[in-house]
Amino acid sequence: MSALDPRPSVIADRLKKVKKITAVTGWKGGIGKSVTAATLALLLTEKGHKTGLLDLDLTGASCHFILGSGKAFPREDMGLVPPFVHGVKFMSISFFSKGQGVPLRGANVTDAIIEMLAVTLWGELDHLVIDMPPGIGDAALDALKFFPKARILAVTTPSPVARDVLRRSLDVYKAMRVPVAGLVENMSPKGVPYDPRLDAALGDPEKLLKTAFARRLEKVTRRFAGG
Ligand SMILES: Nc1ncnc2c1ncn2[C@@H]1O[C@H](COP(=O)(O)OP(=O)(O)OP(=O)(O)O)[C@@H](O)[C@H]1O
Ligand SMILES: [Mg+2]
Repeated sequence: MSALDPRPSVIADRLKKVKKITAVTGWKGGIGKSVTAATLALLLTEKGHKTGLLDLDLTGASCHFILGSGKAFPREDMGLVPPFVHGVKFMSISFFSKGQGVPLRGANVTDAIIEMLAVTLWGELDHLVIDMPPGIGDAALDALKFFPKARILAVTTPSPVARDVLRRSLDVYKAMRVPVAGLVENMSPKGVPYDPRLDAALGDPEKLLKTAFARRLEKVTRRFAGG
């Protein structure tokens, strides 16, 4: 990104009317970050909040699959207006990648993220939920810089390996002064238990909202709706 790049100032303008930004992360791969982010967006919408969902996992985008976004597509209007998918304003690289893999690396990932943030017209939102990619590469760190209002919803599992990764990630967020506002212990009787019916509900928001996973996540994330 050059010093002459106008996009960062455009991004701040694009996010001006977004009240709360929640970045769902956990660093470890495959622990349920995307199902948590997409379901949280559906739950907030169910409660009557104007909600957006941004899939920032460019190489492993999965929210379109979880929501079943089908033929929905952004509308052009001096930028891109995200389509509503089951009431959630949704933006993802999946709209443009046509089912193909996205072999981006290094600075190109950051550039694609900046581009997506600069063109997306979110309008007024109570909540913007961001599905973060696994790990904390340059792209994820760069992306967080564009969300000064962001707070973290950390996802982990009872696995000692996941917890160890989480502990280190929390140290990094602390150093970056990004507040960690909540923790979801997924696939755990103490948090959100393993739900054998979850996978069959992916792609169908009505069904997804009725799963034990969603109902339990609703309780665990209740304060995200207000505070
Ligand atoms: N509590 C749960 N009960 C049952 N299945 C679950 C649960 N949480 C997640 N899963 C399943 O685990 C798989 C991985 O979930 P998901 O894609 O959300 O993980 P992720 O952390 O986003 O992965 P990645 O690091 O690749 O982005 C999905 O098939 C999802 O349905
Ligand atoms: Mg994911």
